[in-house]
Amino acid sequence: MKDVKLKLTRKKTLSEGVLEFEFFSDEKLPQMHCGQFLHLRVGGEFLLRRPFCLYKYGERSVTLIVAVVGGGTKRMSEMKEGEEVMAVLPIGNGFTLEDEHKKILLLGGGVGCAPLVSVPLTYPNKEYVSYIGFSTANAVMFEDEFSKFGSVTVCTDDGSTGRKGYVTDVLREDIEKIKPDVILTCGNTPMLKAAARLSAETKIPAYMSGETRMGCGVGACLVCACAVKEKNGTIVHKRACVDGPVFKLEDVLL
Ligand SMILES: Cc1cc2nc3c(=O)[nH]c(=O)nc-3n(C[C@H](O)[C@H](O)[C@H](O)COP(=O)(O)OP(=O)(O)OC[C@H]3O[C@@H](n4cnc5c(N)ncnc54)[C@H](O)[C@@H]3O)c2cc1C
Ligand code: FES
Repeated sequence: MKDVKLKLTRKKTLSEGVLEFEFFSDEKLPQMHCGQFLHLRVGGEFLLRRPFCLYKYGERSVTLIVAVVGGGTKRMSEMKEGEEVMAVLPIGNGFTLEDEHKKILLLGGGVGCAPLVSVPLTYPNKEYVSYIGFSTANAVMFEDEFSKFGSVTVCTDDGSTGRKGYVTDVLREDIEKIKPDVILTCGNTPMLKAAARLSAETKIPAYMSGETRMGCGVGACLVCACAVKEKNGTIVHKRACVDGPVFKLEDVLL
């Protein structure tokens, strides 16, 4: 984990209120892993850093997908190319696949699809099937990215494109046919709850990265504490920033 200076080199609008930011660093960046995140000092009056998943990354570059939801992300949306920001990276454990995980189901909701895109880049010798859900046709993103690695099923809540319905409901219809070894998911809490029910019913293990408010991002403030069930059934509080953000879905009390 290191505090590095990043320069914004490209900013692109993907859909309404969602932007892609590509940053470059003069110095070589630390080794990064899919599912980790960075903590960005967005500047202006915002003293607390904001957490964003690593969407794509290289030795000197990192790309983020940012939904504009409040003051800090609005400030980011106003950044100009060439502007410099400080970011601590990489943070957290990320997604880990074992040898027995041969067929991987990637389940993403909205901006939550972003950290899943780098999983096949990290683990290329696996079979991938992706289900990605959005509210409506105009909000659909990442279809081309996921289709590079395998089949992708796009779902919209209103049925304006792809299959109609919540992505977890659509997946429920297909999962017996797919028979994945593991599900990796990221999205909002209602989607994660539905994924947890599906994982419990089908006994397919699932790992999630979710929505947690963060403060320090380095394990010191406990703002990100979340309740997690241990193997013996006791509930402990873990820090989503450094103990997560990826947890086994059945262990987390959502
Ligand atoms: C590990 C991690 C990775 C994340 N990755 C991404 C990402 O790749 N792209 C992305 O767009 N967002 C991501 N988020 C959420 C992002 O950090 C927040 O949306 C952002 O910090 C909001 O800042 P703000 O100042 O604009 O909004 P604020 O003014 O702080 O809040 C505005 C609204 O957003 C909600 N909000 C604030 N923080 C979070 C949060 N952590 N999770 C969910 N809702 C929040 C608030 O409840 C409020 O409704 C991630 C969060 C975590 C914990
Ligand atoms: S954000 Fe401070 S301990 Fe996790």
